[in-house]
Amino acid sequence: MKPVTEIAHGIHYVGTNDRTKHRFEGLWPLPYGVSYNAYLVDDEKVALIDTIDASFTGRLLENIRAVIGDRPVDYLIINHMEPDHSASIHAIRQAYPDITIVGNAKTLQMVEGFYGIGENAPTKTDILTVGDGDILRLGRREFQFFLIPMVHWPETMVTYCPCEKLVFSGDAFGTFGALDGGIIDTQLDTSRFWDEMVRYYSNIVGKYGGPVQKALEKLKPLLPLKTVCPTHGPVWTEKDFPKVLDLYDRLSRYEPLEKGVVIAYGSMYGNTEQTAERLARELAARGVQKIVVHNLSSSHHSFVIRDIFRYSALVIGSPTYNMHLYPEVQALVDDLELRVIPSRTFACFGGFTWAGVAVKRLTEFSERMGWPLVAPPLEIKQGFSPEKSDSVVEIADAITQKL
Ligand code: FEO
Repeated sequence: MKPVTEIAHGIHYVGTNDRTKHRFEGLWPLPYGVSYNAYLVDDEKVALIDTIDASFTGRLLENIRAVIGDRPVDYLIINHMEPDHSASIHAIRQAYPDITIVGNAKTLQMVEGFYGIGENAPTKTDILTVGDGDILRLGRREFQFFLIPMVHWPETMVTYCPCEKLVFSGDAFGTFGALDGGIIDTQLDTSRFWDEMVRYYSNIVGKYGGPVQKALEKLKPLLPLKTVCPTHGPVWTEKDFPKVLDLYDRLSRYEPLEKGVVIAYGSMYGNTEQTAERLARELAARGVQKIVVHNLSSSHHSFVIRDIFRYSALVIGSPTYNMHLYPEVQALVDDLELRVIPSRTFACFGGFTWAGVAVKRLTEFSERMGWPLVAPPLEIKQGFSPEKSDSVVEIADAITQKL
């Protein structure tokens, strides 16, 4: 029995899973793997929507042949040029030399720059440049293209198939996590994808909330959609797409998903860590249940960023190190500044041995972010003791009141 790949009439999944890559983009751990999704539309003409990571090109070609045999692919539509989706272009062009590459002007310029493929490039290929709202007829069905720049690259677009009420959405609505068997949300237990979707969104797309809001506005007239086909993670149907859409909407407005507190700290010898522990206990004593404590030397920052997008309050703790923040704390602070999150309930604490700088730096950070401190910072000289940390109750009280 052949595995079912048809996700709508004549529309096939031809992507694959990657369970060996340690870090996506060299940065983001993949504890549950990732899928690279590509789709084949079999009509009078055949169109491939995006390709996949270079390590799996052979599988992509096999998957395509399993659907159309020796017939050629007429069009390669590139919704997103990032190499996890475009790196198989050369192989596709070699297998199907008469193929026409379809993309917007920005995409095609990148295809030429990365791969030397284009109308006047070293590898000459037929090109079709499309703009916002343009239509391409395949036969029975047609595609319409919508540009959604900066979700999360400048060339990103989606391809809409009106007769199926289906959108090929690129990275939008995607998530980390391999597809263990089922491809469509109705075929699998989607509960394990929600955390990874928030981590994917907050780390990869999180800086671009404004462009995501514009994209959602542009896609509104297409709603309700029957099927949404992203380049990573499950294909969404009416079963789960409303939840995905709501999640993207809230995350791109930087609205916390839940009331709760993230305590993120660095600690060399456990003194700053004990302040973090005490604060967590004080919050719990005030009835706060959603508390996540991250030691920044052991929690990868992608999980910390995920939780900061999710919860409404953040407390950062740092020792003074080289007259600055502890390096792991500095890395988190830099990541947060890049993502321009407009508001969070914020407090900080720190420790030092001979000169206190960390709390000063964290206070400056709160000013740059526009997150006023909800309580005076606590800064402990040398060893932790319960007495020295007593003023942490002011932070716990203020945060509890704000939740
Ligand atoms: Fe999945 Fe932006 O690449």
